[in-house]
Amino acid sequence: MLAHRCSARTSSSILLVFVLAIVFLTARRVHNPRAPPPPPDRATWRDGDMSKACPQDLEFLRTKDLALTQKIVYTRRCIRPVRGDVDRDVVANVSSPLVTTKTILNLADGCSSAEPPPCEPLSLHVPPAYPKPEHQYQHLVFGVASSYGRLQDALPTFAHWLSGSGAALIVVVADADQPDANFDLAALEAAYRNLSIDATVIAPKLKTGLPRKDTPANEPLPSPAPVEQLHFLLIRDMLEFATPQTQWLGVLDDDTFFPSLHPLSGMLQQHNHSAPVWLGALADNLESIRKWGYMSYGGAGVFLSMPLARQLAPHLDSCIRKTTIISGDGMLRDCIYLNTPTKLTVVPELYQHDMRGDPAGFYESGRRVLSVHHWKSWYNAPVDKMAAVVRVCGDCFLQRFRLGDDTLLANGYSVSVYRAGLLPTLDLGRIEGTWGGWGGSDFDFVYAPFRPPLAPEDKKSYRLVGVAEEPAATVNGVPAKLRQFYVHRTTTEEEKKGKDSAMDEVIELVWEG
Ligand SMILES: *[C@@H]1O[C@H](CO)[C@@H](O)[C@H](O)[C@H]1NC(C)=O
Ligand SMILES: *[C@@H]1O[C@H](CO)[C@@H](O)[C@H](O)[C@H]1NC(C)=O
Ligand SMILES: *[C@@H]1O[C@H](CO)[C@@H](O)[C@H](O)[C@H]1NC(C)=O
Repeated sequence: MLAHRCSARTSSSILLVFVLAIVFLTARRVHNPRAPPPPPDRATWRDGDMSKACPQDLEFLRTKDLALTQKIVYTRRCIRPVRGDVDRDVVANVSSPLVTTKTILNLADGCSSAEPPPCEPLSLHVPPAYPKPEHQYQHLVFGVASSYGRLQDALPTFAHWLSGSGAALIVVVADADQPDANFDLAALEAAYRNLSIDATVIAPKLKTGLPRKDTPANEPLPSPAPVEQLHFLLIRDMLEFATPQTQWLGVLDDDTFFPSLHPLSGMLQQHNHSAPVWLGALADNLESIRKWGYMSYGGAGVFLSMPLARQLAPHLDSCIRKTTIISGDGMLRDCIYLNTPTKLTVVPELYQHDMRGDPAGFYESGRRVLSVHHWKSWYNAPVDKMAAVVRVCGDCFLQRFRLGDDTLLANGYSVSVYRAGLLPTLDLGRIEGTWGGWGGSDFDFVYAPFRPPLAPEDKKSYRLVGVAEEPAATVNGVPAKLRQFYVHRTTTEEEKKGKDSAMDEVIELVWEG
């Protein structure tokens, strides 16, 4: 349940940054009355005359979510996926360059350009699409406990991997019993079900928190119960909704993200669900392990076989009373050790992501990923949009392609254009140390060997910020077209001065079904 430990920490640091920013800005205003105006609000051009429509295939570029400058440098390629038996772990070499033409588009003026942008075809060898989810995951029950607001926000990311799967999701609204709460649990459940998620939304059964071993006798017990206890007690809630088919219970944080259920289920199949089994991942930062110990960290996703869950169920209350650990994942570890001989089986492809700053090195490392976490707190990444490409070519998410002499595509995450001559000298088998603290030794046990991060003048990054799907005419759930938008945000002097000559650069990859 690290997410909850961290949200408090995050909000106090946000507050601190906010206060410092006000102090700083106020001081600047006094001492430097000619400070440049702030960067333009990238949406302001939309307030002008937008009567001129864009050609249909370019209209999406104007959506608010992409937050592009009024004029953009635009390029696109039409990707023909060649599906087959490819080794997706090898960086594929494509001799032709990715960017062959660049067109300047004026989005406020009907996406006008000197020449209509072409969409030259490009063949890429990728794995086959995963089979369409058709309720074949009924052996999985997932559980999450969080606040009503966060559970609403989590809808699109849960939908990405759960929709149509047949797996059950038990949702405990941790703040449902707050005196001033007026939450509509039925509406939340309907919203999940509307996205083909087999969700059951419930209020906590535990109305008042239980005392831990270290709770002072005179301390009033919290009401409603702390979310960490509810997270731990999910085992009982999930067992209640288990069916004879259920094999595994998955305990999640509200920001645990699975790029796809298909490989996750494949991993679970390699373990014996008829025996007591505890699966999960350590934190990927040794600092967290020093602090919280050896256990399955909640954000990466924790899996219990039914026999283990049944062994634990009668002991859950007493486990809380006997523990001094505040976090749900820590309570689970103590409870398993107190009551069963089962030990943790570490699944390396589940990631707790206790990293802050720029996660590019991770997402550009080519590794296969079963789960990620902290993508909307410790760092920011639009994970559901990034992983949309699994619907086209399954295991191709984060697969890497070298194009021409200087470009690397990390599918779904980024396009990197390197300074001339640099790419051939890079050891792509090493992970680029882009996030905070990579150079200490705390991340080595998961990610070593590293290579140092590159400066912006050596590596120009276009990050995926949005996708558009043409769902019509899908064959086996493969979208007819999936459009990925990779954007390099301008940080030029023009932008700092608020001039409309500042231009973001956009590379669109149109994956054809
Ligand atoms: C791709 O090219 C690089 C650099 O020339 C080479 O080291 C690598 O072996 C090639 N990869 C494949 C799969 O051919
Ligand atoms: C369900 O989805 C439809 C569109 O797909 C939307 O119009 C409707 O408001 C949604 N209902 C709920 C309860 O979210
Ligand atoms: C799975 O576990 C059950 C219960 O312990 C045992 O009877 C069975 O032999 C195990 N299956 C395999 C394939 O190991």
